[in-house]
Amino acid sequence: MTFTVAIDGPAAAGKGTIGRALAAEFGFAHLDTGLLYRAVGVLTMNRARGVIDPVSAEMIATRLTEEDLKRDDLRTAVASRAASRVAALSAVRAALLDFQRRFARRPGGAVLDGRDIGTVICPEAEVKLFVTASEEVRARRRYEELLHSRPETRLDAVLNDLRIRDARDAGRQDAPLSQAEDAVLLDTTEMSIDDAVDKARALVRAKLG
Ligand code: DC
Repeated sequence: MTFTVAIDGPAAAGKGTIGRALAAEFGFAHLDTGLLYRAVGVLTMNRARGVIDPVSAEMIATRLTEEDLKRDDLRTAVASRAASRVAALSAVRAALLDFQRRFARRPGGAVLDGRDIGTVICPEAEVKLFVTASEEVRARRRYEELLHSRPETRLDAVLNDLRIRDARDAGRQDAPLSQAEDAVLLDTTEMSIDDAVDKARALVRAKLG
């Protein structure tokens, strides 16, 4: 059986939490596609002491392995910025396409979360969700997450980073963040993540029949 759930939306909207909950409930494999861009960003920067060279980024994307996704430095603010920059390179996106498509159609079902899953990677996904929330709510969630590992984190800096990243992700030429026409919108500004997970579960259950 193949069954794909595509979850898109801006940073810190709750895509990962919803994706993991659906994977656990229905036994689907889960891929956080942001990790692909984060790993390419970090590896590219490490190669040239902080500089992002597009040719290196493409080569690194072509050779990326599942092992690279397990690095423990992919969640930092530096990695977020690098990811957003390499994600604007068409050659990098093209190099990561096949891996994501194969993952999406693996037997047993798959959930992928990212920015272009329902629009470009899997336009034929059985369930498409677009998860969003106001900038302030998303910044506060990311801030609270980061505080655990970095007590010096500041909310205004997180909000600023989020705005720059959102603008780049939504404004780029290739596969910009956008809601697929047939995606169900889940706005988690007022809704709790638990309620959003319940809604997502109900949609998948209805589709599975
Ligand atoms: O979801 P995230 O914050 O981990 O994503 C990191 C960056 O990668 C984000 O700024 C946009 C980019 N990205 C993308 O362009 N397409 C995807 N499918 C997933 C992430």
